[in-house]
Amino acid sequence: MTVASGVPCSVPFLDLGGVNNGLREEFDVAWKTVLDHGHFVGGPEVERFESEFASYCEAQACIGVANGTDALELILSGLGIGRGDEVIVPTNTFIATAEAVCATGARPRFVDVCPDTLLIDPAAAQAAINSSTAAIIAVHLYGQMVDPEPISAIAAAHGLALIEDAAQAHGARHRGTSAGSVGIAAGFSFYPGKNLGALGDGGAVVTSDLALADRIRSIANHGRSVSDRYLHDLAGRNSRLDTLQAALLSAKLPRLDAGNARRAAAMAAYREMLPQGCTPVSVQPGAAPVYHLAVIQVDDRSEVGATLTAAGIGWGVHYPIPCHQQPALAGRYQPGSDDFAVAERAAGRILSLPMSPTLTVEQVARVCDVLGGAL
Ligand SMILES: Cc1ncc(COP(=O)(O)O)c(C=O)c1O
Repeated sequence: MTVASGVPCSVPFLDLGGVNNGLREEFDVAWKTVLDHGHFVGGPEVERFESEFASYCEAQACIGVANGTDALELILSGLGIGRGDEVIVPTNTFIATAEAVCATGARPRFVDVCPDTLLIDPAAAQAAINSSTAAIIAVHLYGQMVDPEPISAIAAAHGLALIEDAAQAHGARHRGTSAGSVGIAAGFSFYPGKNLGALGDGGAVVTSDLALADRIRSIANHGRSVSDRYLHDLAGRNSRLDTLQAALLSAKLPRLDAGNARRAAAMAAYREMLPQGCTPVSVQPGAAPVYHLAVIQVDDRSEVGATLTAAGIGWGVHYPIPCHQQPALAGRYQPGSDDFAVAERAAGRILSLPMSPTLTVEQVARVCDVLGGAL
């Protein structure tokens, strides 16, 4: 949810123009190259981007797919997870994480999050495991990785697949590990507003399990056999990354780390200048987040939000309704302890401030000034 005020934003929530305008020449070359060779699905640009993004994530393989939701669904299907299985999902996430589970016929089993980071609570995940549990999805929300150690240990002890939802965490690290290299596989989204965003929809699965990679590549391409394009040996579907999007993503990838560093600098400025009463989400020891979002907690969000809107400052809420309270998921998830006190409290208090690689210290100071006036 991003608030559009009708007033031109003096500080936009996300400056997509600023991110993409500096790449116009590279985009022109990409478009011309693809138009000239005429392969609009597949082709050398997709292979090139897959190889670049796999190495960026320190993984063995990458499969470009249509979007981040498909990436998660394809990982689950590739692992054979479906009807009769439960998949543990934090209730504080974008609904797509749960949608992907439901699409396979499995049921999400929601668990609460940690009060300081708002990321999945490993103890709650452990308590939710039963004989139907097949996997845990660790969502690296807001750009911060879930601490890999406790969640990997729980998954390993119970023989569960650990899947990363890295849609908001391109380039995030935790003590030497990189988002996309921790679980059996990770799903990424290249939705335009992401830290690595396409100019349309896009997504990727990243994994170091090469047999799983082959299976997912086949399922995403109509279940086609590698050796014979007219033989379909798996139940498949169509979910592929467009050639043009792959070319644009290859043009953007070399600038991702610099953009993430500028986001981190903007977040550091927020931490210095935020007035009392605005509490940013904590960073765990060992974590190097990429600040997809700059999330704070406040007591009176509607008052603070109204003041920001009146000052022409863009803001959002990620997410105001936890998944277990979403009408679309009613009756589709596996009821458990039903103790979601942390996520429910946070849902009424969280507010996402402007965040972009182009955000300046002056803009951060302006946002903090206005917040100071609201509190
Ligand atoms: C945490 C999370 N998971 C999954 C997705 C789904 O990605 P897409 O929109 O590319 O399907 C998103 C996208 O917003 C997301 O933020």
